[in-house]
Amino acid sequence: MKVVEVENYDEMSKVAAKTIIEKIKQEQNVVLGLATGGTPVGTYKQLVIDYKEHMTSYKNVHTVNLDEYIGLKETDPTSYAYYMKEHLFNDINIPIVNTHIPSGEAVDTGKECEEYETLIDSLGGVDLQLLGIGENGHIGFNEPGTSFHSKTSVVKLSDTTRKANSIYFNGLEEVPTHAISMGISTILKSKQILLLVSGKRKAEVLYRLLTEDIKEELPASILRKHPNVTIVADFEALSIVNEKQLVLS
Ligand code: GLP
Repeated sequence: MKVVEVENYDEMSKVAAKTIIEKIKQEQNVVLGLATGGTPVGTYKQLVIDYKEHMTSYKNVHTVNLDEYIGLKETDPTSYAYYMKEHLFNDINIPIVNTHIPSGEAVDTGKECEEYETLIDSLGGVDLQLLGIGENGHIGFNEPGTSFHSKTSVVKLSDTTRKANSIYFNGLEEVPTHAISMGISTILKSKQILLLVSGKRKAEVLYRLLTEDIKEELPASILRKHPNVTIVADFEALSIVNEKQLVLS
């Protein structure tokens, strides 16, 4: 696991966007795994700036998102489907049929999960997966205790996650209780993973990720077993790591 230390959120976003753009330019038909939340907003902004300036083409790019809240329509501004259009898809030339997000409106959620797994496989798997991390170590919406063997499934959101995400809603009661999330084994099948970590709020979980045992109680810890993970973290996120003088490889 490689750790790239950057000064701040802006620099983290630029490094992430550069990695994604290089990948798109190097390979035909790239499959990008995309994340939501506050962390990747700056990365998407950089991709849009680059698109406007250099016309990097997304015509042959496919995307699969990590997760979606159950019960939200894709037209709901708090849905991840809406977020992706707002922050990225509307501003680049990606064919909308190439973009995939689990449906939060699915009547048969079990079937939706199975089909999402099949879809990822049929695309040939994810080439580059962008990830954020929850303060409790979740990746996607895989909360502490989730099996490392999990596939795309319906997950119950923890109180801490609902509280953390309530800033995007009109209060905690509006935050859905469940989501569909790629499983941990699904995420681990990605050929390359880019984990973005920014801010003091994430300093403790980043320190835990780098120092604690690999265990299901800390979902992100399994990333240490993946052969191609790069963490891009800013000074604030690395504040505890640096304070404790942990030597990074
Ligand atoms: C959300 C998302 C995750 C994201 C995490 C961190 O719950 N499901 O994919 O990485 O929380 O969010 P943020 O980037 O806003 O801190």
